[in-house]
Amino acid sequence: MLPAYIPNPVAALCGGGTPVDLGRSYSDGRRLFGDGKTYRGLLIGILAGIGSGLLLIWLSDTYLLTSLPKHTVLSVTLLACGALLGDLAKSFFKRRLGKERGARWPVADQYDLVVGAFLLLLVFDLSWFFTHITIPVLIFILILTPVLHRAVNIIGYLFRIKEVPW
Ligand code: CTP
Ligand code: MG
Repeated sequence: MLPAYIPNPVAALCGGGTPVDLGRSYSDGRRLFGDGKTYRGLLIGILAGIGSGLLLIWLSDTYLLTSLPKHTVLSVTLLACGALLGDLAKSFFKRRLGKERGARWPVADQYDLVVGAFLLLLVFDLSWFFTHITIPVLIFILILTPVLHRAVNIIGYLFRIKEVPW
């Protein structure tokens, strides 16, 4: 899951500048995604996620770490892109619900990246998904994700990278 976990914190660290929606609003008069979703965050976040995945592939090949799931360039790319596309889609629905940028939306805020990453894997690499995302792995991911999310956001808040600790 590392390639899916890396993009969000990296986007928070490196994001900013032109928003993905270019400031445009939806028919309800609210922003499409909001100022919290930028091209720079998307691009650098995805590249960092893919980079972490390539490092994993290199490590497992070099040190023959056969217990690690067998990643491919495709699987790490789908995990990294899916994580931030899930985050982007989450923000779209968040705005439709009238929630401002940075507002809290429990469950959705934590699992957006998992849903996005899994959807892309299901569409573009079904066999990888069913080989590696077994029921025990899925349960582990569902427990680990909110814990990591909370921990990383508190750290980001303490270091003043994030404005809110969620
Ligand atoms: N970020 C970015 N581009 C992205 C995702 C995130 O630049 N595609 C940066 C933004 O600076 C954002 C921060 O990372 O404020 C934290 O991300 P997140 O919590 O996902 O955004 P929020 O500001 O909380 O906005 P939203 O309410 O839409 O989730
Ligand atoms: Mg947020």
